[in-house]
Amino acid sequence: MNKADRQEVRTTVIIPAAGSGTRFGASRPKQFVPLLGVPILVRTLQAFEETDAVQNIVIAASPDFHAPIAELTAEYHLTKIAAIVEGGKERQDSIFNALQTSISAVSDVLLVHDAVRPFVTPDFIQTIINSAWEHGAAIPGLTPKETIKECTEAGLVAATHERSRLRAIQTPQGFRREILVAAYRKAQEHGFLGTDDASVVEFAGFPVHVIAGEEKNIKITTPLDFAWAEFLLR
Ligand code: CTP
Ligand code: MG
Repeated sequence: MNKADRQEVRTTVIIPAAGSGTRFGASRPKQFVPLLGVPILVRTLQAFEETDAVQNIVIAASPDFHAPIAELTAEYHLTKIAAIVEGGKERQDSIFNALQTSISAVSDVLLVHDAVRPFVTPDFIQTIINSAWEHGAAIPGLTPKETIKECTEAGLVAATHERSRLRAIQTPQGFRREILVAAYRKAQEHGFLGTDDASVVEFAGFPVHVIAGEEKNIKITTPLDFAWAEFLLR
């Protein structure tokens, strides 16, 4: 099939939502906490619902939350959720499980997006899809505002990295399906554990293209991030 016309690129987004939110410290995992009345996870899913280029959503979540997610799906009329799989111990295990679904196997581009980044926009998702299709792997990054230093375990500065070459990496991260699948298989075989999907792809030896991220696309990690998110929405 000629996919020169990107309308034909079939895209699935994997949403890892199996974390427990230790740093957030709420009584339930932060992705289920309402942000101005609407659960963070739902706000995130709505962005992909509104993106025409995304056909399917696969969610990784703890089995305890599969029924609540199905209820949210009905309540908010979400139409693209094709599968809910079990989460794993690490985020990477959650993604690995999502990659085993038949939906993932028939997609041209796979996106991975944190359940707790509700400010992603359809335009930005489209930009990542285009870049992933063109380059094989595309991720958003922001140049840090602060100086970043590498430290020893004893708390001494080991190096100061040139800021203009550093990027704080966000999601959505986008990949041609065969690249992400091959990379996760290799990481599994070698016991490699990365902190994002691109690090798995880097480990497997594929080049990763970095594009400009969006400052508003924050990850809700701590209660202060939540306060900031409420402010951004108001
Ligand atoms: N995640 C996941 N499976 C895990 C761990 C994390 O699917 N085993 C998901 C989280 O639900 C979240 C995203 O990965 O959507 C980013 O993780 P993070 O912000 O670290 O969330 P938590 O792991 O829940 O938070 P914490 O690290 O503070 O416990
Ligand atoms: Mg975590």
